[in-house]
Amino acid sequence: MATATHTATALSVTKIGGRIGAEIGGVRLGGGLSDDDVAGIRAALLAHKVVFFRGQGHLDEAAHEAFAELLGAPVAHPTVPSADGRYALGIDSHHGARANQWHTDVTFVPAYPAFSILRAVTIPPYGGDTLWANTATAYAGLPEPLRALADGLRAVHSNEYDYAALRPDALPEALAQYREVFTSTTFLTEHPVVRVHPETGERTLLLGNFVQRIQGLTGRDSRALLDLFQAHIESPENTVRWQWQAGDVAIWDNRATQHYGVDDSDDHERTLRRVTVDGDVPVGPDGVPSRLISPETVPDPSFGIPSGASTGSASTGSAA
Ligand SMILES: [Fe+2]
Repeated sequence: MATATHTATALSVTKIGGRIGAEIGGVRLGGGLSDDDVAGIRAALLAHKVVFFRGQGHLDEAAHEAFAELLGAPVAHPTVPSADGRYALGIDSHHGARANQWHTDVTFVPAYPAFSILRAVTIPPYGGDTLWANTATAYAGLPEPLRALADGLRAVHSNEYDYAALRPDALPEALAQYREVFTSTTFLTEHPVVRVHPETGERTLLLGNFVQRIQGLTGRDSRALLDLFQAHIESPENTVRWQWQAGDVAIWDNRATQHYGVDDSDDHERTLRRVTVDGDVPVGPDGVPSRLISPETVPDPSFGIPSGASTGSASTGSAA
């Protein structure tokens, strides 16, 4: 039986996996939460990497965004138009690519989001679970020689990759349309493979499906090392799996996790909304920050609101 701890505000945090994941009860999410509740949620999020809330069906786009503001500054996706003209990204089984690859959100820009907040609107009668993996325990569990190897590596991440290889059954027009929107600006960013977490100080593996290659290696060596590290991240003991109900909310620390949306609900509708909170530019164990390789200048915030993509430019000096 899991144990729950209670704070003065009746917020309960119940661990649901050995290395990652907790369910939080006793709170109605929205913009009016007390400072104590926000602090409790943030602490649980940093400790457990992903936290889940049932029964938050009262949230709409505005309340979702108002809650996000309590954790930081909301940011739009750098290239994909939002669902509401502001910050909510639509994740819809009937449109766009499915997220059935392990990834960390938006790592193709330097200061990718710190937190993602995902709200379930319509959930299929079966399937469509999401898995999260803890990239801090993945690093900590590596044998020392592999930790030392990872510490010295840097990898190039991009939003330009082979969609057709990921969705061999998709119609060519659908793939072309998605690619055109998702890569309307092609970003290339170099990140350390090991990121020092800015709040916890933990070392985390910064990889996932936006990685193109490890700097300085041949394609074959790069692939072999990526597969090696990724296998430690994806190990079942290092993950938690969530079976969604409509009205659920999941929040993850995007700096210490990867996630995977399981594509097994056939043609049933599955609709979620995501709001992300701005992050900062990663640094490796050597203190060297991530850097934007291209474009030379980051376009104006997409769709008239901040996308977060340009916040990474300060350290590179390459963009306004
Ligand atoms: Fe994602």
